[in-house]
Amino acid sequence: MKKEIFKPNRGFAKDARIKNMCEYQALQDAATEDYEGFWGGYAKEKIDWVTPFTNVLDESNFPFVKWFEGGKLNVSTQCIDRHLDTRKNKAAIIFEGDRGDKQIITYLDLYYNVNRFANLLKNEFDVKKGDRVVIYMPMIPEAAYAMLACARIGAIHSIVFGGFSSEALKDRIEDAEAKVVITADGAYRKDKPYMLKPVVDEALSGKTPVKKVLVVERNGEDVTWVAGRDYSYNELIKHQRVTCEPEVMDSEDPLFLLYTSGSTGQPKGVQHNSAGYILWAQMTMEWVFDVKENDTYWCTADIGWITGHTYIVYGPLAMGATTVMFEGVITHPDAGRPWRMVEEHRINQFYTAPTAIRVLHKMGEHEPAKYDLSSLKVLGTVGEPIDPPAWKWYYEKVGGSRCAIVDTYWQTETGGHIVSPLPGATPIKPGCATFPLPGIIAEVLDPQSGKKVEVGESGYLCITRPWPSMIRGVWGDEKRYKKSYFEDVKKEGKPVYFTGDGAHYDEDGYITITGRTDDVINVSGHRMGTAEVEAAIKKHSNVAEVAVVGKPHEIKGEGIFAYIVLKSDCGIADEIEEVKAINKVIQREIGNIALCDDVVFVSGLPKTRSGKIMRRILRSIAKGQEITQDISTLEDPSIVATIVTAVRSCKL
Ligand code: PRX
Repeated sequence: MKKEIFKPNRGFAKDARIKNMCEYQALQDAATEDYEGFWGGYAKEKIDWVTPFTNVLDESNFPFVKWFEGGKLNVSTQCIDRHLDTRKNKAAIIFEGDRGDKQIITYLDLYYNVNRFANLLKNEFDVKKGDRVVIYMPMIPEAAYAMLACARIGAIHSIVFGGFSSEALKDRIEDAEAKVVITADGAYRKDKPYMLKPVVDEALSGKTPVKKVLVVERNGEDVTWVAGRDYSYNELIKHQRVTCEPEVMDSEDPLFLLYTSGSTGQPKGVQHNSAGYILWAQMTMEWVFDVKENDTYWCTADIGWITGHTYIVYGPLAMGATTVMFEGVITHPDAGRPWRMVEEHRINQFYTAPTAIRVLHKMGEHEPAKYDLSSLKVLGTVGEPIDPPAWKWYYEKVGGSRCAIVDTYWQTETGGHIVSPLPGATPIKPGCATFPLPGIIAEVLDPQSGKKVEVGESGYLCITRPWPSMIRGVWGDEKRYKKSYFEDVKKEGKPVYFTGDGAHYDEDGYITITGRTDDVINVSGHRMGTAEVEAAIKKHSNVAEVAVVGKPHEIKGEGIFAYIVLKSDCGIADEIEEVKAINKVIQREIGNIALCDDVVFVSGLPKTRSGKIMRRILRSIAKGQEITQDISTLEDPSIVATIVTAVRSCKL
């Protein structure tokens, strides 16, 4: 079926950085013809180098690549100092708290706050270049200061999302061997204080590499204090000088780690380095959101995810934009909250996840009409496919049928957008990420032949040349880096980066993402490894076996469906207790984000004779589909009917 097509708004396109598809094609041709010339040119133009680079790209040791070798820079000066001449009184961050408290932080304020923070880490905590600092923070400006302070002194930050449990935090601290944790007493959520510091205390309760904990006071609740380990940010910051010489960093010095789910129980520490990452963060802000000097831009993500890193902090600040940071929940106190904020702050670009759009649509279909949303120019989505009803509502009711919707496809590993419409150029098809951005050579390949698939055929989405903001490694695990991304697909005999996503081309060459091809599920736009959830559930003493699959979910995109074999059978009343106990284990091991939507107790799992669980069957059963797959290779084919009956009769 041919999809509807929406042309860019002409008035908008006139002033856009990329004005039409001819300009897009010219850029893409330039990149294809002279890849290094293309990237080298932008790197020279966009980055304030301390020392210029001497070589654009070294791929001799692929997949360990080096961009802009010889170059020296500091990412915090790229985001702050270089704007002081022209933008010192411009708002860098507009903060809105859960309870509506507001704060405007100018570029000069940001400079002082980050410098003081950097001095604190350096002088009080002895943090040096290359040290790892874990940030476990709510969405408050100090979280951004902490990131930039690390960048200023060359420390590598690793942000752990505030919804993760103490066990998940502990794993990430240990894997990165972090020396310092920066946290807050807590924050506010739906008008009520919630706590973060006790989670940190719990995570550090055993043997730990952490020497110091810095606590920002946000909600003023009582927290326990470990003498000699815990320090008050609010006290220490008062004594810090407002200038801190930035550490001179090599282009390929690490900037941060961000842990993400993969196909094993252990999350991977995705490493991003300095120059390539910041270059693409800035360029995509300019191209994909087309932010102008006086615009106000708002991304609703949390800094605990890659979207928060690249598109709340680094990208907007590198380009000198005004970025909105929001502590609260977008449906609180009502589903008009984001639209009220758009009206009040005169937001020009709004970026969120399809899950949020679905919730806002469901809870407040008519809310957008109550507010003046005329400032909006570009609407973005990220993290999961957007379904046509949500797209249509977003386009018509929020964007007034005049704003471009940029359906940005990318990943933690890609650092920035990969496939996305350009708001002034690309005719949009709902639910379609459209074309690779200029400079990105992304192709849908047949995994067997390594050739580009034909129109309508499914294939694997691969990026066939290294790009500047590409993942540089999995922290401490070279083998896993190669195995996770470079072993599945070869093009012309050479390994290429495989995203883990399936995709296809339509008759106009548009790319549509069809979802993960591995055991990773996408819950509300957040990646969750089924192996990770299974490893958590197995920690419950009465669980013998477990298999977790994704199941379509009206709001969350995908929900978590667990099939569990108990060690000792129990009646329905006890099963309810078991579900509660299992949820507790998940909360303890990962956090609320991994709670199961469905739990079914079964007598066995569908396994092949070699013991491999056939998840395809479990996925079909969870969706309520008829089983059409060949089950004759199963050790016990009759188990399928038993599981179907268990699912149908499940009352939990
Ligand atoms: O499956 C793709 C999906 O989200 C995955 C990346 O997740 P994460 O690393 O957590 O980063 C999320 C934010 C960038 C991808 O492998 N995904 C991301 N964007 C889209 C998407 N699926 C469909 N359409 C998108 N626009």
